[in-house]
Amino acid sequence: MKILVTGGAGFIGSAVVRLAMRRGHRVTNLDALTYAACLDNVTPVSDMAGYSFVQADIRDRAALDAVFAEHAPDAVMHLAAESHVDRSIDGPGAFIETNITGTYNMLEAARGYWVGRGRPDGFRFHHISTDEVYGSLPADPAIKFTETTAYDPRSPYSASKAASDHLVRAWHETYGLPVVLSNCSNNYGPYHFPEKLIPVVILNALAGKPLPIYGDGTNIRDWLYVEDHADALLLVMQKGRPGRSYNIGGGNERTNLDLVRTICAILDEKRPRPAGSYAEQITFVPDRPGHDARYAIDAGRIRDELGWRPSVTVEEGLEKTVQWYLDNEAWWRALQDRHGVGERLGTRA
Ligand SMILES: NC(=O)c1ccc[n+]([C@@H]2O[C@H](COP(=O)([O-])OP(=O)(O)OC[C@H]3O[C@@H](n4cnc5c(N)ncnc54)[C@H](O)[C@@H]3O)[C@@H](O)[C@H]2O)c1
Repeated sequence: MKILVTGGAGFIGSAVVRLAMRRGHRVTNLDALTYAACLDNVTPVSDMAGYSFVQADIRDRAALDAVFAEHAPDAVMHLAAESHVDRSIDGPGAFIETNITGTYNMLEAARGYWVGRGRPDGFRFHHISTDEVYGSLPADPAIKFTETTAYDPRSPYSASKAASDHLVRAWHETYGLPVVLSNCSNNYGPYHFPEKLIPVVILNALAGKPLPIYGDGTNIRDWLYVEDHADALLLVMQKGRPGRSYNIGGGNERTNLDLVRTICAILDEKRPRPAGSYAEQITFVPDRPGHDARYAIDAGRIRDELGWRPSVTVEEGLEKTVQWYLDNEAWWRALQDRHGVGERLGTRA
């Protein structure tokens, strides 16, 4: 297939690009190259036949029309977004423009292209979204997010993603655009931009800096290894039923404190600290405003309908991730002077 991937120089988008190329698809990677992008993420496949990159902004409708006309995709996988909750607290405007208006532009450009080609049934517009649209769960482990959980976003980021999900569904119901949606839990793995919890913890640990934990560290997330997610996304794009949503989770609920202690234990094995465990660097910092207590995914639909399961536990995925950061110092060093990296963000509320 010929796939137009938006946000393919970011963390998850680049995992999708790498996997799609290795599976023999052709990929057009469309990305504005914001602070969160890194084209090195796709270096492993960028010389392969069938790969192309276009620097374009999804807020620019004319640029999108030109990309559709020139690259003629069979499917769109739309991942481009502003993605960092803390940045959305300090500056929500970019989240509204990219996540809502940008998605609207993508839908309209895709619709114009699809109609112009005679509305092919096989065309897909896959919108990649987050479980954060569902809000925060109580502690009861029996309660998880399903595809019918009511939307209840609580941050500017999740509200902008919820709005984009509603637009995508509306374009299906109103115009018949063959869309599929997926909402996933927190991703982690190689090429994770060093402003998110797991890379921050690994890199601060190695630098002898405090390992910041928001609040008391009891917030629970359901961790999904990014390469498992990319596999699930290609499956949803190819086999998902038009108009339908699929929740994707790793089945790995952990408190932030447990997660950080696991990373410390892995580092204690791989790169022992002469002065004792890295866990001694754990530091509790003031909580994020409106910090959701718990996210957990019921992945029953994608498992039962499409046969997908995650391939790794969080312990296995973290072991691979820590090793990747130890082996790829040049990659993360080059990103550490980007705007806001290493600073505490999201405290201006
Ligand atoms: N990271 C997670 O844990 C997670 C969880 C659930 C859902 N998601 C969703 O998955 C998608 C990808 O997330 P990620 O973590 O890879 O994000 P990321 O921030 O690492 O990458 C986003 C990419 O989008 C590009 N981009 C941003 N604004 C753009 C614009 N206006 N035009 C074109 N490109 C633009 C950036 O340059 C970057 O390469 C997002 O839609 C996000 O909401 C992420």
